[in-house]
Amino acid sequence: MAYCSRIIGTGSHLPDQIMTNAQLVEKLDTSDEWIVERTGIRERRIARVGESTSALAFQAAENALEAAEISAQDLDLVIVATTTPDNTFPSTATKVQAMLGMDHGAAFDVQAVCSGFIYALSVADNFIRAGQAKNVLVIGAEVMTRILDWEDRATCVLFGDGAGAVVLQAQEIEAGEQIGILSTHLHSDGKLRDLLYVDGGPGTDGNVGKLRMLGREVFRHAVTNLAAVVGEALEANGLSQTDIDWLVPHQANKRILDGTARKLGLSAEQVVVTVDRHANTSAASVPLALDEAVRDGRIQPGQLVLMEAMGGGLTWGAALVRW
Ligand code: COA
Repeated sequence: MAYCSRIIGTGSHLPDQIMTNAQLVEKLDTSDEWIVERTGIRERRIARVGESTSALAFQAAENALEAAEISAQDLDLVIVATTTPDNTFPSTATKVQAMLGMDHGAAFDVQAVCSGFIYALSVADNFIRAGQAKNVLVIGAEVMTRILDWEDRATCVLFGDGAGAVVLQAQEIEAGEQIGILSTHLHSDGKLRDLLYVDGGPGTDGNVGKLRMLGREVFRHAVTNLAAVVGEALEANGLSQTDIDWLVPHQANKRILDGTARKLGLSAEQVVVTVDRHANTSAASVPLALDEAVRDGRIQPGQLVLMEAMGGGLTWGAALVRW
């Protein structure tokens, strides 16, 4: 008997503190017009002092479990995608596991920066397909604003904090049945690691470091790589662009979202956009956007949902889901 993964619940959580573009203008040589025109971002959430990645992740997880109508005791795996873990170790996932009152199953982090959620979803899906897990909690959680250089206007205006989560459940399927996560597709090219990175770490200088980016170069690769991986996902399932109901993309930049939607022949209404209010929340952005579109009723059973992301590494990937 074959298994597929169904997404049976989604959840999210944002810090309550909002920073608008106008507030950034007070301390930086920038303008609301520049930020909105180049990125589509109008405001972002900023974690308060003491508000940790695990705290955001835990709230998102609780909301997802409630929506899924299962308890943490039913889970057998917790995966947290994050590039801003609470500590160098232990993993943020083990902290969330403890906060959920679990002392069974396994928990670990996945690090693929902004592609982290797609990577974690792929790992979880493969655990389920292999029959090694039945209920898996996958979380994307970040406090990106803690690793920003607040004097670098080319990067600090782009990021925000938050968390999103999904609960995956194994479902038995007949051969060839197209339901749940149809396929996931992951890529990386470490030659391009210097385009987007953090200039420190426990294995180099022992510092946490700050985010550095060659924005124009990253933009160029994003458009090409995302189009390629989306094509790969559709082809693998014998589907075409016109079959897609919803695009739930990583929210880095409105211009990248518009470019991808145009290439796929999708209308603006078919793209779930949160970048205007959340900015780029790295691994949290896809599950945050997904939760919004599920809760407001846009995503309906039977519809085809395409998720994609690209981030530091470079890493990129896509997941195609029949809801
Ligand atoms: N406010 C005002 N001016 C700014 C600015 C800001 N916040 N940030 C940069 N500028 C200036 C630059 O200094 C530069 O000025 P100059 O021409 O006098 O040197 C000018 O704007 C253009 O800079 P450039 O970096 O070439 O702009 P851009 O059009 O490429 O836009 C990004 C910059 C970052 C918005 C864009 O490159 C981008 O979105 N890249 C992808 C980033 C991304 O998605 N990263 C995450 C992937 S997970």
